[in-house]
Amino acid sequence: MPSLDICFSPELLPLYDLQGRVAVVVDILRATSSIVTALAQGVTHLVPFSELEPCREMASQGYLTAAERDGRQAENVDLGNSPFGYLDGVVPVRGRSVAITTTNGTRALHLSAAAEHVVLGAFLNLGAVADFVRQQQQDVIVVCAGWKGKFCLEDTLFGGALAQRLAQEFDVTSSDATLAALDLWQAAQPDVAAYLLKSSHVRRLNSLESHKDMEFCVRQDAYDLVPVFREGRIVVA
Ligand code: MLT
Repeated sequence: MPSLDICFSPELLPLYDLQGRVAVVVDILRATSSIVTALAQGVTHLVPFSELEPCREMASQGYLTAAERDGRQAENVDLGNSPFGYLDGVVPVRGRSVAITTTNGTRALHLSAAAEHVVLGAFLNLGAVADFVRQQQQDVIVVCAGWKGKFCLEDTLFGGALAQRLAQEFDVTSSDATLAALDLWQAAQPDVAAYLLKSSHVRRLNSLESHKDMEFCVRQDAYDLVPVFREGRIVVA
């Protein structure tokens, strides 16, 4: 039976062997939630960057640019990192490609590139991700983007939610990280948004008036698509 393990921070990735495994990269607040939303709204593909300047330069190749640092939209780009940037119609996104950089999420993606498959997970596409990894029948590592190398509640909760969905088909009891995430997921019931009010990034976003982003990002199964990161691009699987 394949196993599901959880890496609580990109800083811990050197301890994990990604070869031949599926990496599910998660940044619930907000990079992977926004990327899932972007693709659901008709963005053709996204190119993730770790650094700001090369991302901005993609405008000259016809890309929309999306950039966030410390929870705020960076200067001289089209979009920040709110999923509503892809929903509110202020910047038309259908049929466009997007160059994106965020504080933690895009970095976690690049650091996971050695995996056989790199997919992007969010509560918004939880069921679709569960179906995808069931089909692969390979060991899964959930890579939590965290915050600047540190543990965060919301990405770990996603790991627990995914483990719960896969508990019949995957070994979710051999890793203490997975067991801890499952316990945390139980503790967050029945109201995940209320539970997350104590998370440090929710407090950070609240101070930036992005509370509605958090409520949106904890919705489960809103989109039936799985973004995959391959050959430098994020596309729908
Ligand atoms: C990140 O990559 O660190 C984030 O998604 C931060 C945010 O925009 O909330």
